[in-house]
Amino acid sequence: MNAIEAYGDKLYIGAAIPNFVFASWDKYSDLIMSNFNCYTCENEMKPEAILDEEKSRNTLPSSYKHAAVKFDACAPVVKTALTVGVKLRLHTLVWHSQTPDWFFTEDYTSGGAPVCREVMLCRMENYIKDVLAFFLEGYPDLIYAVDVVNEAFDRESGDENGVRRDKNMWYQTVGSDYYYQALLFAHKYAGHSTKLFYNDYSCMYKPDIILSNLKSAKKEGLLDGIGMQSHLSLTDNQELYFAAMDKFASEGYEIEVTELDVGVKDADHEKLERQGEYYQDLMDRIMSRRESGTNISAVTVWGLSDHLSWRRGEHALLFDENLNPKPAYYGFLRQYKKSEL
Ligand code: G3I
Repeated sequence: MNAIEAYGDKLYIGAAIPNFVFASWDKYSDLIMSNFNCYTCENEMKPEAILDEEKSRNTLPSSYKHAAVKFDACAPVVKTALTVGVKLRLHTLVWHSQTPDWFFTEDYTSGGAPVCREVMLCRMENYIKDVLAFFLEGYPDLIYAVDVVNEAFDRESGDENGVRRDKNMWYQTVGSDYYYQALLFAHKYAGHSTKLFYNDYSCMYKPDIILSNLKSAKKEGLLDGIGMQSHLSLTDNQELYFAAMDKFASEGYEIEVTELDVGVKDADHEKLERQGEYYQDLMDRIMSRRESGTNISAVTVWGLSDHLSWRRGEHALLFDENLNPKPAYYGFLRQYKKSEL
């Protein structure tokens, strides 16, 4: 039994894949192809990978409201997905992080003066239009879901409504409705079969600010779903996690688990077994919700193996550094049996 056999006819079951994996495809292909039917670029579809600094600056003033883009970083994933016949999630269009400062300035330099709202809205619209058009025209049906806005709501670094203000050039140039404007543009330019998502971390601790801020966009039909990143730890309470998921579902959102990993501090044999049980509880609850009609359409894990994870040292993923399955993998498949103590 592998993840495709367990879930492939019910869900998109995905993985974030770092780019170098495509250069060593033979090493990873069996593991990936037997377990995942959709891929997310870990970094290569983020604005810092797509925006073309040199060309934008060198073509001023004509590029003033329309920065240049390039897609060479994500060429390997596109080529592989087409060959294997799987779909991609596009992560992500509008995010405060991994979006270069120069994109927000008058002269496309990182020290430059920030542009005004009107100019930044033009840049946002053109960026979203260009990225969506590149895939829609070149590879129709390849991208099935887009994280239009990532991590826009945060109580601690947010304004009175919880919209992320600190260290957020989108907020500082466009203003507090930047996430709404992004959803408007994505809705305008996305293909009919592309699902539009708002994606965030720690959703279990902030479902209300997410829902209240997205209310108008949802009412106007600008988005389909909420991506729950799900960077979890053994100590995270699943009751709270599923209470948030149920809240989103009851407001009519489609749900995707977009960046699942479960960190373990000071891992030993027993903790890795508990991690297996944690993954199993999580997948049991996801699948039983699906069976009773909750619209959960995808589960993506954020990486392939522990040594490739952004959470170094936390053993957060399904496979170990030798690509061997861990208890976490069997738990993920809902086949984990705790060893005799
Ligand atoms: O761009 C440089 C590259 O030029 C250099 O060769 C390389 C050498 O280390 O570093 C590169 O930058 C790294 C980048 O990934 C691309 O590989 C950064 O140092 C590194 O910090 C960055 O980390 C990524 C992180 O997002 C940045 O925010 C992780 O790989 C990626 O897993 C992580 O993913 C995020 C999701 O997008 C959103 N949700 C949270 C999640 C985990 O942080």
